[in-house]
Amino acid sequence: MSEKKPRIRVRGLTKIFGDEQHVALPLLQAGKNRDEVQKATGAVIGLQDVTFDVDEGEILVVMGLSGSGKSTCLRCINRLIEPTAGSVHIDDTDVTALGERDLMELRRTRFGMVFQQFALFPHRTIQRNVEYGLEVQGVPPAARRDKAMAAIETVGLKGWDQHFPSQLSGGMQQRAGLARALALDPDVLLMDEAFSALDPLIRRDMQQELVALQKRLKKTIVFVSHDLDEAIALGGRIVLMKDGRVVQQGTAADFLADPADEYVRRFVEHIDVLGVVTAGDAMRPPVAVRPWQSSADEALAILTQSGEPVVTVVCEMGRFQGTVDADTLRRAGATELRLLLSDRDACVPRSATLNEAVARLASGRGEIAVTGPDGELFGVIANADLIAALARRRVETAH
Ligand SMILES: Nc1ncnc2c1ncn2[C@@H]1O[C@H](COP(=O)(O)OP(=O)(O)OP(=O)(O)O)[C@@H](O)[C@H]1O
Ligand SMILES: [Mg+2]
Repeated sequence: MSEKKPRIRVRGLTKIFGDEQHVALPLLQAGKNRDEVQKATGAVIGLQDVTFDVDEGEILVVMGLSGSGKSTCLRCINRLIEPTAGSVHIDDTDVTALGERDLMELRRTRFGMVFQQFALFPHRTIQRNVEYGLEVQGVPPAARRDKAMAAIETVGLKGWDQHFPSQLSGGMQQRAGLARALALDPDVLLMDEAFSALDPLIRRDMQQELVALQKRLKKTIVFVSHDLDEAIALGGRIVLMKDGRVVQQGTAADFLADPADEYVRRFVEHIDVLGVVTAGDAMRPPVAVRPWQSSADEALAILTQSGEPVVTVVCEMGRFQGTVDADTLRRAGATELRLLLSDRDACVPRSATLNEAVARLASGRGEIAVTGPDGELFGVIANADLIAALARRRVETAH
């Protein structure tokens, strides 16, 4: 987990719906399960002992099937739903201990919310919809307008500010909803199935844009979704819920590599392994590496000994320069490797997915390098390593 101090800390969060919650809570705490408590008291357990952190600037996805408690969890964070037990902190503020006035202030200044239903006012222009929260805060018209227009531009709706919601497509309306939240410049965005009403293609665009936006604006985002593909597209950590409890938290690759139980295993069963396992997971240490001033003869000797398909060539700084295959080396004799480099882009970053690695492997000579931000060589992946990585996942998911 990150070394950064979390922006949001959720601890032992529990929500029991119904008048009997104070009868139900002790039963739950005494170890009775959700069904037993519901049967005994009639109270509905929405959330039970939920604990997780959200780091500053991360997109955390709260995922689970319908009724698993995702929305309840999200709404307990800013107390739109009052938790029955447990605590929520944002930085050093204990949200669960705030009085009504401080809570309102906190909600106004720190949290933005975006829902599945765009909930735009039909008779207000996009600009006036986006201004709404600022208007409520009593921000003067000129400042309000500037902030609204900036937010409208951020979400890619420039030029649409004087239109009405009905004149915009669903995707554009959701952008306007996002702009309305961003206009208030909150640190934390709480998004509940925000893209679920959109067409698949538009939805994918919005996911990519949210990731790009988040990188730029550095907001902390808690994103509720029932869709594993969406969680993977958003790229961050996932809190997987079932029956009001957290079953596992981590990345999709963590779920795949080490599922906490049968439920998680089945949840990720149909995951696109190539889309979540990274080059860093599949690489192995390079064995046939030569600096670029070495001769072809020298490289050929090492290549033959190693059984690798290509020699990987690096500069004095250890940065990847390209690869040279055995045929080329055989013909070149005493020539320096730097003059023989063929596949100069036979490399992927460590964070690349296997999908990207496969594409590179397919266009290369059977082996690619895995590199760091400055091109430093971390490892290599040959065709056989890729197959081994896939087989490993298959075996792991089969058990
Ligand atoms: N106001 C309420 N009163 C009683 N029970 C409720 C209330 N709100 C939610 N619940 C129950 O709490 C549980 C969790 O509901 P929640 O809305 O958080 O699920 P969800 O994961 O968001 O589902 P969905 O994907 O359908 O939106 C469900 O069993 C639901 O019926
Ligand atoms: Mg919900």
